[in-house]
Amino acid sequence: DMGGHDTYMHKEISEQADAVDRVLRGRIDDRFSTVHLGGLNLDAREARGVRRIKILGCGTSYHAGLIGAGLIESLARIPADAEPASEFRYRNPVVDPDTLYIAVSQSGETYDVLAAVQELKRKGARVLGVVNVVGSAIARETDGGVYVHAGPEVCVVSTKCFTNTVVSFALLALHLGRIRDLSVADGKRIIAGLRRLPAQIEEILGTEDEIKKVAEEYANAKSMMFIGRVRGYPVALEASLKLKEISYIHAEAYPASELKHGPLALIEPALPTVAIVPDDDLLEKNRAALEEIKARSGRILAVAHQEQPKADQTIVVPKNETELDPILMGIPLQLLAYHTALALGRDIDKPRNLAKSVTVE
Ligand code: M6R
Repeated sequence: DMGGHDTYMHKEISEQADAVDRVLRGRIDDRFSTVHLGGLNLDAREARGVRRIKILGCGTSYHAGLIGAGLIESLARIPADAEPASEFRYRNPVVDPDTLYIAVSQSGETYDVLAAVQELKRKGARVLGVVNVVGSAIARETDGGVYVHAGPEVCVVSTKCFTNTVVSFALLALHLGRIRDLSVADGKRIIAGLRRLPAQIEEILGTEDEIKKVAEEYANAKSMMFIGRVRGYPVALEASLKLKEISYIHAEAYPASELKHGPLALIEPALPTVAIVPDDDLLEKNRAALEEIKARSGRILAVAHQEQPKADQTIVVPKNETELDPILMGIPLQLLAYHTALALGRDIDKPRNLAKSVTVE
């Protein structure tokens, strides 16, 4: 049942405020400015002993894991990184007893992720899951974890589950942070930011008509470049994947800082750039990248907290806490991919060559 929407993708994009509300529900503890994660199965002493976190997933779940690693590093100050689960298993990874491994999956059935979990467990590692489908294979094989509570996701491309996965990582990072060195004041600040998300998501969804117009302008592009820095880079990666999957337009994602090391050679009027430009400590650096692109006559669409003078268009999104900004900046880009694909007449819910869950290697 698409509930009045023409596609599941559109329905699922539209459900994100409710989905985020659901993942927060019953978990916030205002007394200690932290969150409770019932199924985590990691007590405070164990949490203090974690020296490193390695996040494993594929596709969109890998991108959510990249943002999750950033959240864990900034809120809990534990070194963290994410890697495609499919690659991890084949490089005979060093499995360290003080590292906490986290497997991320919407379906909970992705073979590459499941196989990585099994290999890790065989080597004695502690593996948690950040999983959407309750009781799925990965949920069962992990030692504990966080359910994402996005609800059923039917469209082959992941949207609401991406958003809820990132919010789940924010909860985990806050929880670990408050066991370690995150202050009460910062805990309160993040909790207040989390509570603002649903209304801000509705605000972004309210600008759909504007995003549709922009999408129609860019739909004839042969290729697109997506750039961002630090927290904005995984947002660029995910936006680029979304566009590729449903519009079949070639897209690349780069850290904005890497442009001058090569990809700047591609910039010309026929290759538009989508730039993630949050109001944070990197604003001036991001603006400098826009200038480099403009100097090569590149067209620019910015996703930012304020109009960007160097951009041809800016999609303005509401500001949250810096750590949580990537959650909101991804949403207009889901709509951008959606309306681009719609303008090109693509089969949005069933893109060619892809399946919802990849249960083979
Ligand atoms: O179910 P999973 O999260 O484990 O799936 C992982 C990827 O196959 C999935 O995210 C894929 O990249 C989607 N088509 C993204 O839209």
